[in-house]
Amino acid sequence: MKTEIKKIGVFTSGGDAPGMNAAIRAVVRTALYHKVEVVGIMKGFEGMISGEFMDMDMHSVANTIHRGGTILKTSRCPEFKTPEGRKKAYDNLKAAHIDALIAIGGDGTFVGVDIFGKEYKMPIMGIPGTIDNDLYGTDFTIGYDTAINTVVNAVDKIRDTAESHDRLFIVEVMGRDNGLIALRSAIGVGADSVLIPDSKRDFDFLIKRLEMGRRYKSSKIIMVGEDEEDGGFGMRIGEMVREKFPNYDTRVSVLGHLQRGGKPTCMDRVLASRLGVSSVEQLLKGRKGEMLGLVHGNVAYTPFAAAVKHIEDINDSMLKIVEILSL
Ligand code: F6P
Repeated sequence: MKTEIKKIGVFTSGGDAPGMNAAIRAVVRTALYHKVEVVGIMKGFEGMISGEFMDMDMHSVANTIHRGGTILKTSRCPEFKTPEGRKKAYDNLKAAHIDALIAIGGDGTFVGVDIFGKEYKMPIMGIPGTIDNDLYGTDFTIGYDTAINTVVNAVDKIRDTAESHDRLFIVEVMGRDNGLIALRSAIGVGADSVLIPDSKRDFDFLIKRLEMGRRYKSSKIIMVGEDEEDGGFGMRIGEMVREKFPNYDTRVSVLGHLQRGGKPTCMDRVLASRLGVSSVEQLLKGRKGEMLGLVHGNVAYTPFAAAVKHIEDINDSMLKIVEILSL
């Protein structure tokens, strides 16, 4: 493989996601396979700014494919949004002879590397790692499959209580403003309804659903996406349902950060491994400024600026499936 790149820096940034370690492992081993040095940058942009680097070898990533979280640690770093912060980061990378970067993260990460790559002419490729699945240019992000399986397992347990006590449960899940965790897991758990902050199905629609179903079914599961703006969406829906249907014994369960942890599923490990290998090989072939993804089973490339645009709407047919199957 012909390349000018001698040393690659890899880092994770933003919220951790199960499968990030599998991606780091794939990047490290592929770089070493192609006789390119690789350095781990600790805590994302924060470690780039403070110069916290770690040489990686075959053994640094041994026994990591099955572990959740990220061995390189991660952070959300406001300082990288400033030109001064990015200058410090560049000076540190230069001093460590790092020629190129592989960023594993979500939309905040790719907004940052897009600016940085152009500002300092640094070749960078991105790997989508976030439980939210909110990036354009990949069917799935690393961590999403594990997160929805975690949600499904949790809600299966909640259903035991819902059925035993004849209760209505509002279950709030993560996913920022896009609601894709709520939507897919709603189908997976056989929810009675789903409410997503930006969806066309509003509270009145939920009321109609509850009025239709209440005569013959005493326990209910309503999946609710989080409202990133001011939080507490599940609680607010819970209050409204209690007011409108005082006869239902209503409870709200907010699943929170348990959705981000745990062993990655096989699907996330394979996705991370495929994108990790390709990210290095494509960087060495001269690609830059793009996020890798899997589209219809094949590796695809999307410029960072397009990947973070959130162009895809909530899939109406998925909402319809929840409606039909909850009759
Ligand atoms: O982006 C992943 C995510 O878990 C979102 O679903 C959630 O809104 C956010 O991160 C929470 O971030 P933090 O862990 O920084 O509170």
